[in-house]
Amino acid sequence: MENGKGLSLLIPSLENSKYLIENQDALPCIIRDGILSKVADDSDEVQLSMPAHPQLNEIEILNICNYINNAWGNQLEQISMTEMKNKLAKCKS
Ligand code: HEM
Repeated sequence: MENGKGLSLLIPSLENSKYLIENQDALPCIIRDGILSKVADDSDEVQLSMPAHPQLNEIEILNICNYINNAWGNQLEQISMTEMKNKLAKCKS
């Protein structure tokens, strides 16, 4: 959502997000490829998933990374195109 707060359990909040800090290496992969299993919630009951965004080009993915990293209380380093390409090359899926 526009305020970064997500949608309850379905879409976890990215506001002041510890998860965002801990997943910097996977950030471009998450945005491009989505997430296929439960990750952000402690409960085993809920299977969360995020759809892939295969329509995005590298510039768009980079802009989204740097936007999210510095919006909604997040204060993370700018990622360069080279760094992002290195991260994308290591995506698990
Ligand atoms: C660092 C972590 C994450 C980042 C940077 C991220 C980023 C994004 C972005 C950029 C979108 C598209 C928003 C839009 O179209 O306006 C999105 C959508 C979404 N994400 Fe994530 N996400 C993250 C983690 C997660 C996690 C852990 C889940 C759940 C397991 C999740 C579930 C979803 C869902 C359900 C959508 C909505 C898709 C739709 O209806 O269009 N996300 N996310």
